[in-house]
Amino acid sequence: MTPESNDKKKRQGVSWVGMAVALVLILFGSQWIAYFVRDTIVETAAAAAPTLPNYVNYFADGSYISSASNQAIAAYIQQFPEPQNAQVLVGMNTSAIWSFMTAYVAGGLKVDCTYCHNLNNFGAETLAEVGNEDVYNRKNIAREHLRMVADLNQNWIATLAQYPEKQPSGAQVICATCHYGEPLPVAWAESQYGVPDNYRLPLADYSQPLQEIRRLQVTGKGGQQVSLDAVQFNQYTMYHFNESLGVGCTHCHNSRYFPLYEQPAKNYALHMLQMSQHILANYQESMNGQEPSCVLCHRNQVRPPGSAAAPNNLPAMLNSEYKPGN
Ligand code: HEC
Ligand code: HEC
Ligand code: HEC
Ligand code: HEC
Repeated sequence: MTPESNDKKKRQGVSWVGMAVALVLILFGSQWIAYFVRDTIVETAAAAAPTLPNYVNYFADGSYISSASNQAIAAYIQQFPEPQNAQVLVGMNTSAIWSFMTAYVAGGLKVDCTYCHNLNNFGAETLAEVGNEDVYNRKNIAREHLRMVADLNQNWIATLAQYPEKQPSGAQVICATCHYGEPLPVAWAESQYGVPDNYRLPLADYSQPLQEIRRLQVTGKGGQQVSLDAVQFNQYTMYHFNESLGVGCTHCHNSRYFPLYEQPAKNYALHMLQMSQHILANYQESMNGQEPSCVLCHRNQVRPPGSAAAPNNLPAMLNSEYKPGN
């Protein structure tokens, strides 16, 4: 061994030790930064959203709220501990309304409070007070949709309990059920499988052709008497069901005899069809003229991911357990 190579080994040794020390420093340093960042994020989110939202499978953590809005609402709560103009959220104090707005209203659309409010006055009602026509219109539509949510939960989700073979899971319709983080949700995607030629499910007179199909099947006079149009119409509708819920036909049908109501989910599907008709008849104008679809809520899942997980996640007057007079 030459002295030179010994020297080299020594130098190599030293640099390995140096690298090891550096590595340890980097590891601990980044760990510390990670903890620091995590604590900071957790603290900020907690300040923005006093009540953690609890959805079936959707996240709304308050990150869409600006600090200007958070400051404005803190001042507003000081000034008005009770709301000035709550017409739907009756009986909630301003602080409780703030939590609900953050988690479920702003959270459902993933927008800042300024989408529907003038930060100088959250209780502003007239166009003059609000000062901006778009903001004014949005608050009015939002109020109409708050009423729609209460109507759907109390008159359609609550009544799912009437089918003895299957009890509802407790999932509740709320803003994110349809909006799913979008201020302007689209009910019918252009790419939707099973709806060619711009076909739209004509919910308004939906019952007519299918009842006819069923009558012909029950009387055994099927076959040629069923028009090809009616069969095709039925098929596209059923493909829409499959795709919207991410299931096959047997989720709702006994494949040996389709007309039976043997699978509990088929009762739910018919109920939902009637609910969609009800939405069309009563709220189409506030939905920018759109017809509701199954996929608007279901998003290819059996249980709509943007639903609130349980009735008591929502204020009493909006949920399916509400009893008038209580
Ligand atoms: C998508 C529209 C929309 C968004 C976004 C929104 N709000 Fe609201 N807000 C409303 C509607 C509609 C009402 C009226 C509710 C009623 O009539 O019961 C309301 C009422 C309120 C009230 C009661 C005011 C009063 O005194 O009458 C407060 C406070 C409030 N919102 C705070 C907030 C805060 C804070 C945010 C952001 C975290 C927010 N809102 C986001 C639509 C919205
Ligand atoms: C406004 C939102 C909304 C629309 C529109 C909607 N659904 Fe639902 N649907 C729900 C909610 C919420 C549940 C969860 C009920 C539960 O878990 O108890 C549900 C549950 C169901 C179930 C039960 C699933 C299971 O097996 O557990 C079926 C079937 C169903 N929907 C079919 C449909 C069909 C078909 C359409 C279109 C005609 C439709 N839904 C449209 C909100 C909606
Ligand atoms: C049954 C489905 C459904 C539910 C539930 C629902 N919305 Fe909507 N909402 C829509 C559709 C569809 C539109 C129309 C979007 C467009 O303009 O194309 C809309 C439009 C709106 C608009 C107007 C947006 C704009 O900029 O023009 C607001 C505000 C709004 N919804 C707020 C809410 C709030 C707040 C809730 C919960 C309290 C809610 N919505 C619940 C389907 C729904
Ligand atoms: C989410 C539940 C659901 C799924 C999935 C579904 N169907 Fe249906 N289907 C129904 C309901 C509810 C009706 C009755 C509609 C009515 O009476 O207006 C129906 C009606 C039918 C009918 C007419 C006879 C009858 O039952 O009244 C046929 C045939 C049919 N479906 C075939 C299919 C086929 C084929 C598939 C798969 C491509 C399928 N369905 C998927 C719920 C479903």
